[in-house]
Amino acid sequence: MIIAVDGTAASGKGTLAKRLATTLGLAHLDTGALYRGVGYALIIEGFSTQEITPYHAENAAKNLDFSLLDKPELRTPEAGEMASIVAAIPEVRQALLDAQRQFAQSPPEGFDGAVLDGRDIGTVVLPDADVKFFVDADLAIRADRRTKELINQGHAVMLPEIQTALAARDERDMSRKQAPLKPAEDAIMIDTSDLDVEMMVKTALSHCPQ
Ligand code: DC
Repeated sequence: MIIAVDGTAASGKGTLAKRLATTLGLAHLDTGALYRGVGYALIIEGFSTQEITPYHAENAAKNLDFSLLDKPELRTPEAGEMASIVAAIPEVRQALLDAQRQFAQSPPEGFDGAVLDGRDIGTVVLPDADVKFFVDADLAIRADRRTKELINQGHAVMLPEIQTALAARDERDMSRKQAPLKPAEDAIMIDTSDLDVEMMVKTALSHCPQ
């Protein structure tokens, strides 16, 4: 079974994807981490957001070190912004496409399928996924959740800046030419504004064959 989970930044899609994977015995791939990994590699190389060229970004994507994708440094707002910028470069998307399809088609040993979460999983990466979800929530609620999460992790962040950054990231992800963020025609929409994690998971599971 292959499940695609797409949605806006900080909508809860990552949490949903992880929970579905654990509950259904499927492997999980956070595809945002791939773009964050590329963005982070460029930050480490000293590039600012204005200096990135398709050439450097493509190289960073082709040489991505998958063992670094769990690094907490990838979760910062800066890495998220850089990820969204490199994600608009077609060469980067192309370089990461095969790895994502490969993971879904041949999940790690012991798993019967996979859950992938991102922005274009149901539309571009895995258009034939068995179940597709599109997760969203009101901007103010997403900003509030992300701010609390970052503060809990020890980052000094303020809600207004986080809200502005999330809005800018969604806008960039939705308006790029290649693989923009949008629901697949056959996606099940889940608005998590008024749902806690358990309700969100329960709602999604009711649409999954078990
Ligand atoms: O899900 P996330 O916040 O970790 O994703 C970071 C950025 O990566 C996001 O702003 C856009 C990009 N991304 C993408 O373009 N396609 C994906 N499948 C996943 C993420």
